[in-house]
Amino acid sequence: MTDRVKIQLKPNGSIRVTGEVDFVDSDGNVLETKANFSLCRCGHSATKPFCDGAHRAAGFTAE
Ligand code: FES
Repeated sequence: MTDRVKIQLKPNGSIRVTGEVDFVDSDGNVLETKANFSLCRCGHSATKPFCDGAHRAAGFTAE
């Protein structure tokens, strides 16, 4: 087991964060997160900054 946090760009999808992190908003507030969560990089999520799966319906491509 490693303590290193993994941040992975999913193919044509979200940014997956695996591991315990302090995720801080622009006001300095620590957002509540699980040990594993996904961030939106397509701009279509209704729950930004988190991914809600909307990238699939939007046809988001990372290229
Ligand atoms: S990456 Fe999943 S909703 Fe934007």
